[in-house]
Amino acid sequence: MPTAVVTGGAGFIGSHLVERFLREGWTVHIIDNLVTGKRDNLASGATFHELDIRDAKSAELIASLKPDVLAHLAAQMDVRRSVEDPVYDASVNILGTLNLLESVRKHSPKTRVVFASTGGALYGDNTTPPNSEETKKDPESPYAISKLSVEYYMAYYGRVHGLDTVATRFGNVYGPRQDPHGEAGVVAIFCGRILQGRPLTIFGDGLQTRDYVYVGDVAEAIWFAATKTLPAIGLLDARGFNVGTGIGTSVNDLAKILIEEAGSSVPIDYAPKRPGEAQDSFVDVSKIERALGWRPRVTLREGLANSFRWAAEKNAAESVA
Ligand SMILES: NC(=O)c1ccc[n+]([C@@H]2O[C@H](COP(=O)([O-])OP(=O)(O)OC[C@H]3O[C@@H](n4cnc5c(N)ncnc54)[C@H](O)[C@@H]3O)[C@@H](O)[C@H]2O)c1
Repeated sequence: MPTAVVTGGAGFIGSHLVERFLREGWTVHIIDNLVTGKRDNLASGATFHELDIRDAKSAELIASLKPDVLAHLAAQMDVRRSVEDPVYDASVNILGTLNLLESVRKHSPKTRVVFASTGGALYGDNTTPPNSEETKKDPESPYAISKLSVEYYMAYYGRVHGLDTVATRFGNVYGPRQDPHGEAGVVAIFCGRILQGRPLTIFGDGLQTRDYVYVGDVAEAIWFAATKTLPAIGLLDARGFNVGTGIGTSVNDLAKILIEEAGSSVPIDYAPKRPGEAQDSFVDVSKIERALGWRPRVTLREGLANSFRWAAEKNAAESVA
């Protein structure tokens, strides 16, 4: 059976990806230090290693397993934290990744490495969406800088050392198991508010748009990037793929659809726009469809209904416990 190592497999997106590999009969190992990931998210069919990606033991594990695929999702993924503590951000996101890539280079050069990058933050705010992979990169936070740096390393390891590297650049991922933090925490936050019967707060006029992509579709895109024939390795964008819907949805529409799907009547409150927040951000996803045959399947309405159902069930289980 093929083997995958999923870093961040106890997290939101990683746990869905682990299930995807298990469904195909793969042997799956998870590396996660549970800093934001949860034991409850660990799939029973996978082997869990409670390790930091910066630890030599993580490198040794990859050296001994020599996996077919290393899906690297573990990260410091909070943009605000990256602004407060760019050293910690870089130590996890850059040095932690290099620890793994060096192990692949020395001990497992046939491993395909799939990196979880960001289509929401890589291109910056001064673009006219939809942003294609070739859009000029203008990272505006230490988090985005660390993601772009790793993409350069991925291209370098491919070109200079012949490693099989690929970067998937996600829009705002939402769905079951999402915590109310991170780039797309708004869906989880809104679900929580509706369950408490409290108003939803929108910052600014609510016309700002984002590319909300369902977590099951994202796991599928990573699965495709992990297993399909890829374009030749080359410069930065040669093996970079946007993963989104190609649709910019306003926060007003998001809130409205979620309230409808939840069967709720909570009001919407408006608060002053937050400084530094981009007006519009969504990605062009035609490249991944052309090259790998992936496209999103879950509509926003279906995805929001699933997210709310999951949040409500979790809430009910916690109030019984
Ligand atoms: N959620 C989004 O909208 C979004 C958008 C773009 C990119 N991404 C990227 O996707 C990946 C997964 O994000 P997520 O939303 O599932 O977040 P998450 O916080 O749920 O998952 C990250 C996982 O990494 C683990 N981790 C963090 N630091 C670690 C370390 N030093 N060693 C070992 N494990 C560590 C955490 O415990 C957690 O389980 C991240 O790389 C993130 O930057 C997410």
